[in-house]
Amino acid sequence: MKVAVVGATGMVGEVMLKVLEERNFPVTELLLVASERSVGKALNFKGKAHTVIGLADAVAAKPDIAIFSAGGSTSLEWAPKFAEAGTTVIDNSSAWRMDPTKKLVVPEINAGELTKEDKIIANPNCSTIQMVMALAPLHKAFKMKRVIVSTYQSVSGTGVKAVQQLENEIAGVEGEMAYPYPIGRNALPHCDVFEANGYTKEEMKLAREPQKIFNDNSFSVSATAVRIPTAGGHSESVNVEFENDFELNAVRKMLHETPGVVVQDNPDTNTYPMPIYAHDKDDVFVGRIRRDETQPNTLNMWIVADNLRKGAATNAIQIAEYLVENSLV
Ligand SMILES: NC(=O)c1ccc[n+]([C@@H]2O[C@H](COP(=O)([O-])OP(=O)(O)OC[C@H]3O[C@@H](n4cnc5c(N)ncnc54)[C@H](OP(=O)(O)O)[C@@H]3O)[C@@H](O)[C@H]2O)c1
Repeated sequence: MKVAVVGATGMVGEVMLKVLEERNFPVTELLLVASERSVGKALNFKGKAHTVIGLADAVAAKPDIAIFSAGGSTSLEWAPKFAEAGTTVIDNSSAWRMDPTKKLVVPEINAGELTKEDKIIANPNCSTIQMVMALAPLHKAFKMKRVIVSTYQSVSGTGVKAVQQLENEIAGVEGEMAYPYPIGRNALPHCDVFEANGYTKEEMKLAREPQKIFNDNSFSVSATAVRIPTAGGHSESVNVEFENDFELNAVRKMLHETPGVVVQDNPDTNTYPMPIYAHDKDDVFVGRIRRDETQPNTLNMWIVADNLRKGAATNAIQIAEYLVENSLV
């Protein structure tokens, strides 16, 4: 496969290169693409230096697959140009996620929807991916009615500038601010921009994307998204009300048997998922599994994943793997 990584110099792009290498994705030619600011820079892949090129040159090279993580406006402008040149685009931005003509894919859940005709495929939001990975088997078994989620999201989810802001604050250095307030020793109930309804865009992604992924509007999601000063890894407190009752042991067993999900749940040994241990892992970790004792058929759990891996790069590369394995590209 001739593969273009668009946004190769960014937080997600860097992990994308690592994951492509680790999973031994069949790359025959690699195009590293970023903004004009980075053209000419050298980046390493499999021990070899590659020079960063611009978007127009990348389109002209007609890659088989282009994996985008370069922001929504770059995707809106350039993904159609790649698609027109015959390239299949897998996009990490929010640009195409809710477009009814584009598929929103978490491979373990709905890769089966993909066809050769899908030239722009959307990768869901990082917070959505880890949540639906844990919800999928439970929804199938007990049917979700309502989900209430509060997130504890790392600065790496905002990109390079935000990681730098936190590092500057820790070092006591003045610098560019990615957030409107300090993030060190703080919690910002503000991820992405505010929408007219008073929710942030991140909260609305968590509300809308799961319905599209499950192709099911029969449940609803209410979200509060909070940025905290962790370097990497998002955590989520999730409360789910089901139509049908469940046994806690059955829930644990189902999650344990779900590929890509790891149960870490033992109060006796203080075992529960945490972002420092999810770092650099492809799995989604679930713990603190317990019954909500205030109403019937309701479950509480704590879900943690590396937002740059399963929340972005790993999910996108799993989509690419599915396309290759099923001759869809
Ligand atoms: N961070 C996460 O956890 C996460 C998770 C899921 C999805 N995403 C999405 O992935 C995208 C990138 O996120 P990130 O965290 O990696 O951001 P980032 O660290 O700020 O990196 C942005 C990347 O996009 C490139 N870029 C910016 N403007 C461009 C342009 N006009 N033309 C070509 N390339 C351009 C940058 O190139 P230069 O270095 O040349 O500026 C850089 O490679 C965003 O759409 C984000 O929503 C992020």
